[in-house]
Amino acid sequence: MSDTHITSVLNEARVFAPQPEFRAQAYWQDLDAYRAEHERSLQDPEGFWGEVAKELSWFEPWGKVLEWNLPDAKWFVGGKTNLCFNCVDRQVESGHGDQLAILWEGEAVGPDGPEVRRLSYADLQAETSRFANALKAQGVKKGDVVTIYMGMVPELAIAVLACARIGAPHSVVFGGFSSHAIADRVDDADSKVVITCDGSWRRGKVVPLKANVDAACELTSKIETVIVVERCGNEVAMREGRDLWWRDAVQGVDAECPCEPMDAEDMLFLLYTSGSTGKPKGIVHTTGGYMVYTYLTSKYTFNLKPDTGQVYWCTADVGWITGHSYILYGILPNRVPSLMFEGAPNFPEVDRFWDICERHKVTQFYTAPTAIRAFMKWGDEAVTKHDLSSLQLLGTVGEPINPEAWMWYREVVGGSRCPIVDTWWQTETGGHMLTPLPGATPTVPGSCTLPFFGIDAAVVDESGNEVPLNRGGLLAIRKPWPSMLRGIHGDRERFVQTYFSRLEGMYFPGDGARRDAHGNFWIMGRVDDVINVAGHRLGTMEVESALVSHPQVVEAAVVGMPHEIKGTGIAAFVTLGPGVAASPELSATLQAHVGEEIGAIAKPDLIQFTDHLPKTRSGKIMRRLLRDVAAKRAITGDVTTLEDFSVLETLQKYQED
Ligand code: WTA
Repeated sequence: MSDTHITSVLNEARVFAPQPEFRAQAYWQDLDAYRAEHERSLQDPEGFWGEVAKELSWFEPWGKVLEWNLPDAKWFVGGKTNLCFNCVDRQVESGHGDQLAILWEGEAVGPDGPEVRRLSYADLQAETSRFANALKAQGVKKGDVVTIYMGMVPELAIAVLACARIGAPHSVVFGGFSSHAIADRVDDADSKVVITCDGSWRRGKVVPLKANVDAACELTSKIETVIVVERCGNEVAMREGRDLWWRDAVQGVDAECPCEPMDAEDMLFLLYTSGSTGKPKGIVHTTGGYMVYTYLTSKYTFNLKPDTGQVYWCTADVGWITGHSYILYGILPNRVPSLMFEGAPNFPEVDRFWDICERHKVTQFYTAPTAIRAFMKWGDEAVTKHDLSSLQLLGTVGEPINPEAWMWYREVVGGSRCPIVDTWWQTETGGHMLTPLPGATPTVPGSCTLPFFGIDAAVVDESGNEVPLNRGGLLAIRKPWPSMLRGIHGDRERFVQTYFSRLEGMYFPGDGARRDAHGNFWIMGRVDDVINVAGHRLGTMEVESALVSHPQVVEAAVVGMPHEIKGTGIAAFVTLGPGVAASPELSATLQAHVGEEIGAIAKPDLIQFTDHLPKTRSGKIMRRLLRDVAAKRAITGDVTTLEDFSVLETLQKYQED
């Protein structure tokens, strides 16, 4: 975040009460009622969550609601359920099989408009059952990890839910990642089956997903079966004995497949995310607690009400946690249609999102601040030329939102009529942690306001003591919550180390924060070596390893820098091998190289070649100085530990360039 952002945040005085019309139909209409219920949920978590869990279907009841042995939580101990059942079959069995579950829109716009598919709960039941049987026919059993690397097509939702149906944990790899990233995740998860598409559409061009999987198969020997959805009709190589088409896999397969009774603590999925060290880590989520928590946060944060004509749209990709929790798992049990869009916000035109909102009468709209900043730049007219009167509520997620973007979102998109929910949470938390309740919580541009029910959040110092209001500190969660991660796949040590060692007895998310005089939380960004680029998490070390894997690079240091649209961009300081000359061409080569190693989202925005990196006498790169350089601000703070002072001069020179 830029300095101007921090300053404007500190001076933010605008407070918006929930709009009366919205409030009148909201689940929570009053701040005091929220406070009382929040207090109760902390005093009696078992009572509170036990009641919520009863709103969903269980095959067998739980014995105890919570067993907590720090850092291990078990929720709904002994209970048996199935999340696909709660998303799909439960709605069919209660007589709502014909209702719309997923409203899908394709990217291309033909003469008759875009391709639209509507899946009812009954359709989803048949499709997930059929594909679940197809997976079984390929030898997939309960507990086997299935890797999913697809575009945003309906089959992606079907594949995810089919895995949940038979108790095979899925590991969804975002379709923008490279073959290296696929292979690493497949290896780590020991996954034998990959589901993919021939390609995916991105601004009218084909992203060759199947070819990327083929390349991944060269990097790992684990993959035995690849199931391919035909989407783009691009040329693909099908290897006999390994690859099969989705349509052939489901051909003549039974459309009945009972949902596997899963223990509440059975793994539901793995999702890889970046950390401050090493390779991405596989975050483990289990069934019962995740189901209950994403259900309730969806219901209250978005004010979801079935049978009222709502159409909910989250613009994230299912490849991220936001798509897992708030396109599928939390939304479907609330029986409100979830819109899924295949394409980009500016294709074919910059008003695509608003065109979709207008045509499908979207009522809840959930997106990332980086997208909002792009929309601002594309001009108000792209928004205002559409009738957006269906919108009831707006949400944001993924990174801090600057107050200017928040105000624009409220006024131009929401017509000042819709509450904004700025939701702070993480892959690890599974669901919203800090968020307004839209009918109850007064909102302030730039603040994610208050903790959700059951969340004991605080801003603390290194000893775990709460810091005074308006003072910065570390964000901490002091009690377990149902959808908390249960571990890092295959790495107990890293799990304990990353989340439960810095602050004794508490969960440490890696973010800095502050509370204002009203107790509202303000997220100040990561305090570790993770950067948040356009709402996507990346480890600086991950990008550095990708850079040094290039033969001409000796050393690299990566830091975040302010970026108008992305919030944070990537700056890389690179030293080259002897005799290698710096050039704009080499810069481009290195950017492309990072794209191949990780994915396009990790490409540095700026590559600064340098002879030396600033290091301490113990050899640690002083990233703090590089952040100042990249942000073009004065180098501040203590530099006495610098090993070589002349490097300061060189760095300052870069700022003038
Ligand atoms: C950041 C995305 C400020 C934060 C759901 C967190 C936010 C990381 C917000 C998790 C928000 C997410 N305001 N910062 N509303 N939401 N973040 O795992 O730094 O991709 O730790 O989960 O994004 O990113 P992740």
